[in-house]
Amino acid sequence: MNIFRFFKMWIVVSFIKTNNIADCYVLYKSNNIYQVKNIVKINDMDKIIILCNIFLSKKPFYETPINSNIFNIYEVNNLSDELTLINLDEIKRKNMIIKLNDGQKIYVPILHSYSYLFLKTWIVLSFDDDNTVECVPNFWYKNNVCAWPNKTVINHTKMIERRFNPNNLEFDFIKARKLSKNIDTLSEARRKTKRAEETSELSSANDDKESKKIRHKNFNSRNVV
Ligand SMILES: *[C@@H]1O[C@H](CO)[C@@H](O)[C@H](O)[C@H]1NC(C)=O
Ligand SMILES: *[C@@H]1O[C@H](CO)[C@@H](O)[C@H](O)[C@H]1NC(C)=O
Ligand SMILES: *[C@@H]1O[C@H](CO)[C@@H](O)[C@H](O)[C@H]1NC(C)=O
Repeated sequence: MNIFRFFKMWIVVSFIKTNNIADCYVLYKSNNIYQVKNIVKINDMDKIIILCNIFLSKKPFYETPINSNIFNIYEVNNLSDELTLINLDEIKRKNMIIKLNDGQKIYVPILHSYSYLFLKTWIVLSFDDDNTVECVPNFWYKNNVCAWPNKTVINHTKMIERRFNPNNLEFDFIKARKLSKNIDTLSEARRKTKRAEETSELSSANDDKESKKIRHKNFNSRNVV
């Protein structure tokens, strides 16, 4: 827990990630390149900000035959000591820097890079088709549809734990409703899933409606979208 001065007000933040991100570089919407130092969540707000250092110098790595800026490949230098706050939503790309022997740093974009690649959060959701509750990696859920390992998959728990990339062979894509997002750990997500189940069992006890169950317990009905 830490307190920061941000936009002329004091806020309380929690650190989400402190390790394994030192080699994480992002291209911001301003086209500046930053090295990520920490990812923080502003408490009581659904907001995530990134604490990072900016590269003060950035130029194309090559200019012929085409200026490498077009491909977002830059030579970067002079990493600032000062920490800056940037907004997760405004990161254009997550990228990496290849260090050359002479100390020159070359910034090369990773295609299809999304912030979820380094922000490993979890989401709890309820599937529309059978009203089951589950927690999955945050990036499994997009546009009200959640990827879910289908019957060909023997162990879906492993896929969730290892944050598999959903593919068209082993996953169904099912309409779902988000119950809770930006959960930092799987164990916390599992607690919330259990609570969501119990809450709905309580609230539906009176009117004899079906209660929410963990999805993997019933694999039957399914409306693939
Ligand atoms: C890095 O910063 C120093 C001091 O501001 C400057 O003299 C130097 O030219 C910069 N290096 C590059 C590669 O921009
Ligand atoms: C599925 O995977 C999880 C975690 O990797 C493991 O704990 C569990 O025993 C596996 N279940 C089966 C049926 O293999
Ligand atoms: C698994 O999902 C894929 C993609 O939706 C589908 O093509 C395949 O037939 C499914 N397999 C089973 C056994 O449901």
